[in-house]
Amino acid sequence: MSEQAKLLEMVGVHKRFPGVYALRDVTFDLNAGEVHALLGENGAGKSTLIKILGGIYTIDEGDIIIDGVNTPINSVADAQKNHISIIHQELAQVPHMTIAENIFLGKEIPGPFFTVRRGEMVKKAQKLLASYDFDVPADTPLGSLTIAQRQMIEIIKAVSFDARILVMDEPTSSLSDKEVEFLFRTIKRLKADGVGIIYISHRISELFAISDRVTVLRDGSVIGTRVTREVQQNELIAMMVGRELTNYYTRTYAPQRGDEVLRLEHISSGELVRDVSFSLYKGEILGLAGLVGAGRSEICRTIFGLDPILQGDIYINGQKVKISSPEDAMRLGIALVPEDRKKEGIFAIKDVTFNITLKVLRQIIRGLRMDRSFEKHVVAEHIDGLSIKTPGPGQLVGNLSGGNQQKVIIARWLATKPAILMLDEPTRGVDVGAKAEIYAIMNDLAKQGVSIIMVSSELPEVINMSDRVLVIGGGTVRGDLDRHEVTQEKIMTYATEEM
Ligand SMILES: Nc1ncnc2c1ncn2[C@@H]1O[C@H](COP(=O)(O)OP(=O)(O)OP(=O)(O)O)[C@@H](O)[C@H]1O
Ligand SMILES: [Mg+2]
Repeated sequence: MSEQAKLLEMVGVHKRFPGVYALRDVTFDLNAGEVHALLGENGAGKSTLIKILGGIYTIDEGDIIIDGVNTPINSVADAQKNHISIIHQELAQVPHMTIAENIFLGKEIPGPFFTVRRGEMVKKAQKLLASYDFDVPADTPLGSLTIAQRQMIEIIKAVSFDARILVMDEPTSSLSDKEVEFLFRTIKRLKADGVGIIYISHRISELFAISDRVTVLRDGSVIGTRVTREVQQNELIAMMVGRELTNYYTRTYAPQRGDEVLRLEHISSGELVRDVSFSLYKGEILGLAGLVGAGRSEICRTIFGLDPILQGDIYINGQKVKISSPEDAMRLGIALVPEDRKKEGIFAIKDVTFNITLKVLRQIIRGLRMDRSFEKHVVAEHIDGLSIKTPGPGQLVGNLSGGNQQKVIIARWLATKPAILMLDEPTRGVDVGAKAEIYAIMNDLAKQGVSIIMVSSELPEVINMSDRVLVIGGGTVRGDLDRHEVTQEKIMTYATEEM
């Protein structure tokens, strides 16, 4: 093994964008049959490095060496030719395409006279799906699949082309535990076949489960590379954020229960939510735990006026209210930071200022003129408060890193200064440092009397941050646990209980 050339070496890589030095002298290598994880805060340069490998960004300086041979990559076609396959953080699929069309995109099986053999492609795709126990017809349009299923299609597609170098940029951020397990099995199978895998994730526990080595990036530079089984989580976090992160969860509990601000009585809505009743109190953080598909997001959507209420009543401050649209909800002081932040609301070709102030424009437009100083203040406050990494408020949001785009959406809703704030998976895709910042903000808001509903699939997060936890399953409330009694076991028992 030792004399054998590395599968991949990236040497002395530099990449600059206007106002941003994204990569400085980065050196990185990958062996055949190895999983090499890339770790770093939001904006550290992870996606940029792999976009260079994939031919999406051109390299400013540096070399890419494959099997010991200098191999410039100047286009996506170059990358494909070299058997490099990348599953990007932002999925680039066309929703009306079928699974088969997507899998064979750019590699259609030719028939006579410029036709393609559609039937053959569907049949081949079906076989491929079956080999991954993926039980969906291959002519299903992508648009009707869940995000998780689409992610799996991307993975199946990538590995179906004898990839030698496979890159996964946050593949699990929208997968359920079962799907993650499936992904890990797939990765092991690929490893055994000698594929080299670069794996990017903010979930450090995953890196320990799946990777052989970890390289940490900070501000575009390599801080170090470690053999995974020889390193501790604390060391990795310190390398990432440049300081020790002690007392990670900062929840300071309310001294006593406040007044009731929201009450649901026997609410049924949409296709899933059935007979949900609970109260939310002033200054409380209420966690909604449960499995993916349990109905947690749907409950939030209902409170926000997105899913029609079929039965039951909602009370705010003791008054019965009618919420049939997000406008109704916002007027009542309710905000929802949605789960799928990329789909719901990022304006990539608009700047940070536009994206943050979108919901408070009414306060910025005073009569016929814009209150620019108020606008500046709101934007600066949130760039600062959430540590959004951007060269300035005028940067296009599409140019921010994935995690920083998420922070922009959170900022947009915080700017409305809601009385009731619903956060659906607020820390998904954000780095550990930013997580701690979001927790601190939640604490602060609760202290100021804001009532928070947090949907989270990360049990330690729910347990440490919530005053009370509702366990949701089958579209209804199955358990109501006070912070003194909540444990992972109790949550899982309620969540998986057959009703
Ligand atoms: N096309 C672009 N134009 C301008 N700046 C960019 C562009 N792409 C990336 N950047 C900047 O380069 C830096 C690195 O971004 P990158 O997307 O590589 O981060 P990342 O490590 O993948 O972060 P995350 O964990 O949030 O996905 C960021 O400051 C980002 O704003
Ligand atoms: Mg990224």
